[in-house]
Amino acid sequence: MERLVYLDHAATSWPKPPEVGVAMMEVLEHSGANAGRGNHSLAIGAGRVLVKARNQLAGLFSISNAQDIAFTHNTTMGLNMAIKGTLQPGDHVISTMTEHNSVRRPLEYLRQTKGITVDYVKVDQEGQVDLLELQKNFKPNTKMVICNHSSNLLGSILPIGEIGDMAKTHGAVFLVDAAQSAGSLTIDVGKMNIDLLAFPGHKGLLGPQGTGGVYISPALDLEPLLHGGTGSQSENSAQPNVRPDRYEAGTQNAVGIAGLLAGVKKIMSIGTMNIHRQEWLLTQRLMEGLSGIPGIRLLGPGLGSQRSGIVAFVIEGEESAHIAHRLDREYNIAVRAGMHCTPLAHMAVDTLESGAVRASVGVSSTEQDIDRMLAAMIEMYGRARIR
Ligand SMILES: Cc1ncc(COP(=O)(O)O)c(C=O)c1O
Repeated sequence: MERLVYLDHAATSWPKPPEVGVAMMEVLEHSGANAGRGNHSLAIGAGRVLVKARNQLAGLFSISNAQDIAFTHNTTMGLNMAIKGTLQPGDHVISTMTEHNSVRRPLEYLRQTKGITVDYVKVDQEGQVDLLELQKNFKPNTKMVICNHSSNLLGSILPIGEIGDMAKTHGAVFLVDAAQSAGSLTIDVGKMNIDLLAFPGHKGLLGPQGTGGVYISPALDLEPLLHGGTGSQSENSAQPNVRPDRYEAGTQNAVGIAGLLAGVKKIMSIGTMNIHRQEWLLTQRLMEGLSGIPGIRLLGPGLGSQRSGIVAFVIEGEESAHIAHRLDREYNIAVRAGMHCTPLAHMAVDTLESGAVRASVGVSSTEQDIDRMLAAMIEMYGRARIR
């Protein structure tokens, strides 16, 4: 069988650059002690890895104080910290129909348990929010505005700068879910008025699974999600007030974070704008080729429009899971199919029943990968199908 073509970067990036594995191995072998839990050289070495990674991430997102970044296991944990640490009974939230379940479920949980209220602003067929509609949803008790930077189903890119401005004008906290944009779209927390930014380490930043982070504006005093040991102020029964300890209870994943640091260095050496441009060209090639298949409907922004590295589609009369299964088994091509943890976005483009096939490119994707996918799709579904 031909080599594997991996087009599931939106779930997690793969393969990781070799330097990611090397950096992780280096920590495992030479400084694998517990960061912040001792004054011996090995523990100090592990602590340095965390400091370097925090600084590197601060540079990437234009964060002035690296201590305002807390490491997490993934985006979901950062989103939960941000949402549950901010909202109180009676608060109102504005979010959108493109949100992932990692935003929607914590919100719905708080709706049921704390009596918060939420409005999910509609998105159009291209996955865009109507900013006037969003604006109309502000109420005197609107505490937060939450949106993703890019939809994990539609690939649309939301105007987070403008949404951030609106949130600021109304005195609301602005939380951005950067799961599908960190590493491939420019994020500047100051310019975009972002108060909270949840990001994965394991997707566009090329780190290993089990890594991620959340930026918490110094103006916010978020209630910690986890309480526990930090290696600091041990005599104090309360969670320390100093950052990042306040938000990093328990042993940190120094090995994973070393990999994340190597991944972020790699993407910064290429440049996020170059990565976005390259990914966009690949999506256009894929969309152009797929559009000739009878009965296909490409989801999200049309050809030529801005989008992230995601191309999702449905083919009339074909089950999305079956298409992905055939791509995997017959052609050695990995894509994701079915529901993509974003039911409201599926509802917006009428794919709640059918699900969708999602191909997603990453920094290591090539034109050859796209051409293999197109050749497979044309072989399977290219000719008018006889029923
Ligand atoms: C938009 C969006 N938000 C949140 C998540 C959750 O990310 P993680 O798996 O890092 O928790 C994903 C995962 O695909 C996503 O696409």
